[in-house]
Amino acid sequence: MAILLQDLSLTSKGILAFFALYIVYQIVRLSAQFYRHNSIIKKNGCKPVATYPHRDPIFGLDIFLENSKLTKTGGFWDRVRERYLALDCWTFSQLLLGTRVINTAEPENIKAMLATQFKDFELPPRRKEALQPIFGHGIFTTDGKEWEASRALLRPNFSRNQIADIETFEHHVSAMISWIPKDETTVDLQELFFMLTLDSATEFLFGKSTSVLEGDVTNEEGVKFGEAFNYATARMSLQTRLGKLAVILPDKKFKDSVNLIHEYVQNYVQKALHKKSLTLETPGEANSRRYVFLEELAKTGYSEKKIQDELLNILLAGRDTTAGLLSYLFHYLARRPDVFDKLRAEVVALGNDQPTFEDMKGMKYLQYCLNETLRMQPIVPSNFRFAIKDTTLPVGGGPDGKSPIFVKAGTQVNYQVYVMHRRKDLYGEDALEFKPERWENLRPSWHFLPFNGGPRICIGQQFALTEASYATIRILQAFKRIEPRDSSILTEAMTLTMAPRNGVKVGLIPA
Ligand code: HEM
Ligand SMILES: *[C@@H]1O[C@H](CO)[C@@H](O)[C@H](O)[C@H]1NC(C)=O
Ligand SMILES: *[C@@H]1O[C@H](CO)[C@@H](O)[C@H](O)[C@H]1NC(C)=O
Repeated sequence: MAILLQDLSLTSKGILAFFALYIVYQIVRLSAQFYRHNSIIKKNGCKPVATYPHRDPIFGLDIFLENSKLTKTGGFWDRVRERYLALDCWTFSQLLLGTRVINTAEPENIKAMLATQFKDFELPPRRKEALQPIFGHGIFTTDGKEWEASRALLRPNFSRNQIADIETFEHHVSAMISWIPKDETTVDLQELFFMLTLDSATEFLFGKSTSVLEGDVTNEEGVKFGEAFNYATARMSLQTRLGKLAVILPDKKFKDSVNLIHEYVQNYVQKALHKKSLTLETPGEANSRRYVFLEELAKTGYSEKKIQDELLNILLAGRDTTAGLLSYLFHYLARRPDVFDKLRAEVVALGNDQPTFEDMKGMKYLQYCLNETLRMQPIVPSNFRFAIKDTTLPVGGGPDGKSPIFVKAGTQVNYQVYVMHRRKDLYGEDALEFKPERWENLRPSWHFLPFNGGPRICIGQQFALTEASYATIRILQAFKRIEPRDSSILTEAMTLTMAPRNGVKVGLIPA
């Protein structure tokens, strides 16, 4: 018994010693960290960033609950903009479920994260966690060396002559136009635009279109793929916002959708790899064929899984975005006959033929309209990065917001392009007006960022602008007027990107 007691007290002495050591360790660690942070702060002249005056100063539940509500009703990004205006600054910190994050709508800071200090920032772990189960390891879901390899692999295949395959666009756009009623009854153009971009992107990527616009009952497979893709992306966007909370919600439909998507793409990848081995034996046969992204990737010798991942990454990045741009453009055209008439005059001047790539490049007013739509409604309204080391951002500190700020390793920085694009000090007092003419004199730089900037700039920009231009021209050749058939105020539907919540319900009057 005595021995046992002695043992016990020995053990508790051990625990005590351990505990004391641990406290000393923590004190040393924290002071070293404090010293390191302080020297960065001194060296760069960092000043404190403005903080949001939360009603719940521990978890920031006030913003979290308000945001959850706005996700369901729309008006989310306007409310984010109001928070900036209320604080009267373009960079501030807030709490996200107890963690401090930084928000910025400052071109200088965004340029630092995306370009000049690119190596200090990565994608937040949350984005990778949410996307990798479906999209695997591809250009859109990785960082560092892995991302560099993807980027180098994919980029050459986005050169101009590949994407400007006018005949492919023509095929899908004319199928879409045949769905627009000629008797002026109401149509939701947004639905058609989402079908268009799915059909054309799958044709470009897989070599075979989902053909949802063909209304072909035999293509049940393509239609199912479209539905599964819509469901899976909506669900993932929820998860990027809720983080781990979403993982615990069981969802069989999500699992089924992901399986269906994988099987569908796998099927095409296998066919392409098989074809490759055949064409090696009989060269010359495939020479005159149109450009298929998948077949180019198959030539590289990458694994089936890798190719499948990259294809899905590009489909994710390219499909909803272009449909969103077209939807917003036609929302504005239906409400602004002055802009519509001016744009149509430019289209009609070219005649009724299919426009060429050069024709489209030469259409100034069309480009003003596309840029102005992307300014007012940047399809990726907000984005984020994650500091992978202790670093700084050039502005946002001190009472005037002009000093640099300190950014601790592990801090998430959100940048709201939507808010930046509506800054009156950058675009003028009329910043909230849709006004294509402003582009006559604008020379965009880091304050206009619909496609991101720096090493991770969108590789599909040309593809998107060509497809949107082509579709717009063909619609305006076929119809001479467009009327809004929906008087609700414009709010956004939030997916991974954004689009008008109530669709684009209009009537079109044939030419
Ligand atoms: C109006 C249409 C589009 C908009 C507004 C847009 C916008 C963007 C933005 C903001 C990013 C940066 C995302 C980030 O780094 O967090 C991005 C990346 C990307 N986009 Fe687009 N995009 C559009 C169309 C397309 C199309 C049509 C394709 C392909 C066919 C495409 C392929 C990609 C890819 C692969 C990336 C990832 C690049 C990388 O991380 O290196 N995009 N896009
Ligand atoms: C497409 O990319 C692959 C891999 O980078 C490359 O081998 C191939 O030559 C490219 N094809 C074209 C037409 O650019
Ligand atoms: C539209 O914006 C792009 C940047 O995304 C820019 O390169 C282009 O010059 C702009 N077009 C016009 C007509 O200003």
